[in-house]
Amino acid sequence: MVLLELSDVHAGYGGGNVINGVSLTIEEGTVVSLLGRNGVGKTTTLRSIVGVISPDRGTVSFDSLDISGFEPHETYKQGISLVPEDRGIFPDLTVSENLRVPLVDTDDERSIAEIYGYFPKLEELQDSKGRNLSGGEQQMLAIGRALRQNPRLLLLDEPSEGLAPQIIEDVGRAIETIAEEGMTILVVEQNTKFALDISSHAYIMADGQIVMDGSTNELRDDEERLEKYLGVHET
Ligand SMILES: Nc1ncnc2c1ncn2[C@@H]1O[C@H](COP(=O)(O)OP(=O)(O)OP(=O)(O)O)[C@@H](O)[C@H]1O
Ligand SMILES: [Mg+2]
Repeated sequence: MVLLELSDVHAGYGGGNVINGVSLTIEEGTVVSLLGRNGVGKTTTLRSIVGVISPDRGTVSFDSLDISGFEPHETYKQGISLVPEDRGIFPDLTVSENLRVPLVDTDDERSIAEIYGYFPKLEELQDSKGRNLSGGEQQMLAIGRALRQNPRLLLLDEPSEGLAPQIIEDVGRAIETIAEEGMTILVVEQNTKFALDISSHAYIMADGQIVMDGSTNELRDDEERLEKYLGVHET
């Protein structure tokens, strides 16, 4: 079943469109990545899904419902949670307080104990202030917080950004565990290897458009085009 479908989405910030005709589909229960260099429109695509900006043209549908033009609280209520690029941790609140912050608006929310089950490190750190966490711990906290709502679609904006290789592996394992339980996930990344390792299908963006997509196995073999659009050598 297709859970999310973007069809010819054009969106921007008033001074001309940043994304120009983005189409993509995500099957329920899969992990899909959206790759591209700096400034190609990855975050803008996520913003047009959650409703921070609304598409000037095209449609976003979620579980067959047209959600184009929905406000962020409405897409959240439909079951879409975004972990933003800056992670949005409250620095003066403790880990457990950060996990208590979300307005959980569902009958089958996940308890804080369940979140600690995914991220045991967070339980150890439950009384530490957000500001004292490492980048990796903050990323886990941000994902854990998004999971409280038990979303049907989890959007992750560059979860590996700024993290050491060892920590990237930890974050990747946590994402895989969540995915194995059936969560549908869209991961935006610049780290091609990390993204291809955790997803089954990938879309590649350049200049506000999808220029290539395929199964991650197919894409790994297309080194020439990966190099062209992403500048990677090793996948
Ligand atoms: N709030 C905004 N107002 C105006 N222009 C913006 C805004 N946010 C982003 N842009 C512009 O839109 C373009 C795409 O930005 P976007 O953040 O979607 O790219 P990205 O692929 O997520 O890049 P990065 O990998 O650096 O996060 C850029 O040229 C950026 O300057
Ligand atoms: Mg971005």
